[in-house]
Amino acid sequence: MNVIIVDDYESLSHAGADWLVEAINAKPDATIVVATGNTPMGVYHELARRYSHGLIDTSRLHAFQLDAYIGLAPDDQRSLFGWMHRSFIEPLDIAETNVVRLVGDAPDPWDACRIYEIAVREAGGFDISILGLGPNGHLGFNEPPSLPDSPTRVIPLTPESIASNARYWGGEEQVPPQALTCGMDLLLAARRTLLLVSGAHKYQILHRAMEGPQTPDVPASYLQSAPNVTVLADRAAWHGLETQSR
Ligand code: GLP
Repeated sequence: MNVIIVDDYESLSHAGADWLVEAINAKPDATIVVATGNTPMGVYHELARRYSHGLIDTSRLHAFQLDAYIGLAPDDQRSLFGWMHRSFIEPLDIAETNVVRLVGDAPDPWDACRIYEIAVREAGGFDISILGLGPNGHLGFNEPPSLPDSPTRVIPLTPESIASNARYWGGEEQVPPQALTCGMDLLLAARRTLLLVSGAHKYQILHRAMEGPQTPDVPASYLQSAPNVTVLADRAAWHGLETQSR
């Protein structure tokens, strides 16, 4: 894994956008799986600025939703599709026909998973994967334990994920208990991965993921064996509380 440590969240947002500009220019028809969560928002904002300055062409990009809560319509304010749309699809003017949803409100969510997998495979897999790191080591909603060959699937959220996602929506009772997630198999096969990590609260899990044993208990630890992974972390995440108190 290639590790880049930057001073703070602002620097992370700039460095992440620069990484994506380079990756997109290298493959203007890239397939990209797009994380939500707070960490990538600054990167997406900066990427949109670079787009508005003509530094990338987004007309041939294909974007794939990473994860979805079960049972939410796309216009529900908690919908991760809606979040991806507002933060990535709209600012970059990605064509609606080039966006693949993971349909959390499908009548049969397992069927939605199979349809998604077929779409990813027909597109040739992911060229670029943009990921955040869950506080319990999850990628997307591949909750621990998740094996590296885990498919795209329905998954109950752990109490830890429900608690950590409550901050986005104003309470644990707002967080649906089940989700769909793009599988570990597809994520680990991505040709390039950008893992974004910010804040001292991610220090321990970041180091377990990068240096600990590869284990289903820390799904992100399997990135150690994935091709072409860049970990972009700020100093607070890399050094932990020590740096935060400086
Ligand atoms: C959420 C999402 C992940 C996200 C992660 C980290 O639960 N399912 O896709 O990457 O947690 O979120 P954040 O970046 O807000 O710390």
